[in-house]
Amino acid sequence: MKHILLGVSGGIAAYKAAELVRLFKKQGAEVRVVMTQSALEFVSPLTFQALSGNPVHTELLDTDAENAMGHISLARWADVLIIAPATANTLAKLSCGLADDLLSTLYLAATCPVYVAPAMNQAMWNKIVTQENVNRLVNQGVHIIGPEQGDQACGETGFGRMTEPVSICTQLVAALSDHASLSEPYLHGHKVLISAGPTREPLDPVRYLSNRSSGKMGYALAAAAIKAGAEVTLVSGPVALTAPANVNLINVTTAEQMYQAVMFRASENTIYIGAAAVADYSPVVSDKKIKKEGDQVTLILQKTKDILAEVAALEQHRPFTVGFAAETHDLEVYARDKLTRKKLDMIAANWVGQEQGGFDSEQNALQVFWDQGEKTFSMTDKAQLAEQLLGLIAERIKAS
Ligand code: PMT
Repeated sequence: MKHILLGVSGGIAAYKAAELVRLFKKQGAEVRVVMTQSALEFVSPLTFQALSGNPVHTELLDTDAENAMGHISLARWADVLIIAPATANTLAKLSCGLADDLLSTLYLAATCPVYVAPAMNQAMWNKIVTQENVNRLVNQGVHIIGPEQGDQACGETGFGRMTEPVSICTQLVAALSDHASLSEPYLHGHKVLISAGPTREPLDPVRYLSNRSSGKMGYALAAAAIKAGAEVTLVSGPVALTAPANVNLINVTTAEQMYQAVMFRASENTIYIGAAAVADYSPVVSDKKIKKEGDQVTLILQKTKDILAEVAALEQHRPFTVGFAAETHDLEVYARDKLTRKKLDMIAANWVGQEQGGFDSEQNALQVFWDQGEKTFSMTDKAQLAEQLLGLIAERIKAS
């Protein structure tokens, strides 16, 4: 039986944590709840005690509680720590390593995986300092679930709603089994080729056309594939990231170079994942700096080769081919069209050009489509999402 330690901090979404306890129990988990002082203002500990069947922990320095199960024993007891809702204040405390109450002390003492489901007003979520705190937590290995976009209790609309309990529960249950299966490397024997980052298409000796891809999604996939026991080659456009250890890194700049690097290696691999944002068109390069003349300038762009479609069309030693679709509208329609037109095994579609997710953010959400099915992975950090996607790829390969 899995031991889930649920931390509840003080926000209006605290009432939803009661539903989480019920869902975890339904999954057969044993649940213990820790509440911050401000969470006590929103929900009574009796609710959590009745639902979990265990006393609720609220104080760091409580002799009775420490005698029953001290904070270190509580941290060791947990197979996973999930904090839902996590307020802006809790995120700030955790990210800085403050330990002035039971929940923040447990976070510091925890050696198990930690998941955090933020919930707050959209302006508070979008504040640079909150985003910096989230990034610091991600860098500490914390998995962030949500928040989601929508109407808020304060009457505003935007990102900040806590992810629905049923979705948090599904992600946690999947992650717990992923963590278990990570000990048996489920991609052992596989060779995974991943493209990541943007391409840069030179216009003249000093300028280029590019896009906002940071490479984070592709690099997260490379790290997750290594963890899953695969041999990994990462063909990367220009990014400011360090490749994960043990990855065979091939640096490229242009779409043509990415095409050459991928096609040269594609048939040596069993899986290809095209996470790069490859230029669809490339300018005819001027060998001299284009001078400023007139109010307008016309560029002639030439279509680039479609790397993904060409890998999927390989007649011999074709890898299991997974594309990405980055869309600003009609996501499912365009993703399904790419899946069939490019003859892919799977496509992972994500929204881009939004406040959250997609390009250059720590988090993303994916809608994955294949011939006979689809699966949604809700907003979470790219490391977690990469593990979820690779788990699904392994599952589909097994089934095919
Ligand atoms: O790098 P991050 O900042 O972490 O952002 C991640 C991401 C948004 C870039 C990533 O999740 C993503 O969506 N990557 C694909 C971006 C893209 O170019 O999508 P597209 O819909 O334009 O292309 C569809 C697919 O065709 C992609 O797999 C792409 O790699 C591939 N393609 C496109 C053009 C081309 N000439 N060759 C290709 O192989």
